[in-house]
Amino acid sequence: MPLHIERPDLMPRRMLIGTDWREAADARRLDVSDPATDAIFASVPDGTAADARAAVDAAHAAFPAWRAVPAKQRAQILKRWNDLVMAHQEDLGRLISREQGKPLAEGRGEVAYAASYIEWFAEEATRANGEIIPAPVAGRRMLALREPVGVVAAVTPWNFPAAMIARKIAPALAAGCTVVCKPAEDTPLTSLALVKLAAEAGVPSGVLNIVTASRERTPEVVDAWLDDVRVRKITFTGSTPVGKHLARRSADTLKKLSLELGGNAPFIVFDDADLDAAVDGLMAAKFRNGGQTCVSPNRVFVQARVHDAFVDRLVARVGALKVGPATQADSQIGPMINARAVDKIERHVKDAVARGARVVVGGKRLRDARCDGPNYFAPTVLVNADATMECSCEETFGPVVPITRFESEAEVIAAANGTPFGLAAYFYSTDVRRISRVADALETGIVGINEGALAAEAAPFGGVKESGYGREGSVHGLEDYMHIKYVCQGQL
Ligand code: SIN
Repeated sequence: MPLHIERPDLMPRRMLIGTDWREAADARRLDVSDPATDAIFASVPDGTAADARAAVDAAHAAFPAWRAVPAKQRAQILKRWNDLVMAHQEDLGRLISREQGKPLAEGRGEVAYAASYIEWFAEEATRANGEIIPAPVAGRRMLALREPVGVVAAVTPWNFPAAMIARKIAPALAAGCTVVCKPAEDTPLTSLALVKLAAEAGVPSGVLNIVTASRERTPEVVDAWLDDVRVRKITFTGSTPVGKHLARRSADTLKKLSLELGGNAPFIVFDDADLDAAVDGLMAAKFRNGGQTCVSPNRVFVQARVHDAFVDRLVARVGALKVGPATQADSQIGPMINARAVDKIERHVKDAVARGARVVVGGKRLRDARCDGPNYFAPTVLVNADATMECSCEETFGPVVPITRFESEAEVIAAANGTPFGLAAYFYSTDVRRISRVADALETGIVGINEGALAAEAAPFGGVKESGYGREGSVHGLEDYMHIKYVCQGQL
């Protein structure tokens, strides 16, 4: 089905480096397909190492002038970008849905979510205050100034093609940094549209550059940035193995890093919880974007006394979810991003069943008149899950809820923390003393208490342990793009 957008020029089909919308150095193209059918519907340049270096040349040349632009003016440009993004919410939502697969309502929602970060950092730009430090000796003035780090390389994921770009690029621009960006190979179109709108908003040439590249060519593009001393920061959202690789490879030039990596979020329902609220929270957290979210609950623990009642209520809700393409207005879960993703989900379910889990609803791929494509998986609830199963050890990144019954608070805290990851955790309880105890004990960067929807532009988003470091959003999101310069003036 053709993609109808009001402004066809929001699909520039070229990448922006410096002043030019251009092809890859060798003119090779990367096909973009619709996850609902795997049909190719667009293509973009398949960038090379030479393009990556050209992007750094442009960003490096633009940095002195951009950092010198008064913060208020940078803020005004970001505000215009925010306004343009919201003015084109429908087109951007359609682009997201078509290349990423999420239902259109979620696509539109993601545009607003992305814009919220742009607006937030437009406001934060003007508050990047430094400090005057009371000098310990007479005759000195001591200052701590905040400066932009320089050229930032942003490597962004496919699951939120607009929001993750905005959450990285808006604070970088607000801080006075210039940017080279590589969007995920599955979802380059949304990012190109956002970059086009940024240019329209007044972001000067060279300040924001984008290189699209295939899975095969991504290593050469990213390596070119890792090796380049002019790139002073890498910001990445994606898998923990890739995050570790970036940390190792950037050690030679000691780049600043923000790594938002895999999660394996526990979702705990205590027997004093409001069960309806817990089911609502799990539905919201788990099935957003079809479970393809790094804060998605991956391991659900339910206390023995309420286990069966909770499972019954959950299964009724999960069984009623409507799966289908983004083009069907009533779809609540779209296709998964690609064949690798569905294969992994299927492998996790089969492994769980082989190790003793039972499928209560779903448990298989879907292919019928409505889900007429290879990448659909039925929303699934498994009971009798345990820590030996693949679905408990790594992110499934799909619509699967594995449930484990537990007896005591101590046991469930040990289980929840028994993972190398530490991004988000959720729990439901009405006991005020337990609430403080459990929130303190959970080893994650984000904790949801009686709440399943946690992310917001004003909140710090990021993990601990092998879920990475750095924070996105909030006042802390700007700090990640700045360093502190201590200035000491004597002889006063
Ligand atoms: C992510 O999955 O990386 C981001 C999710 C969010 O912003 O809530």
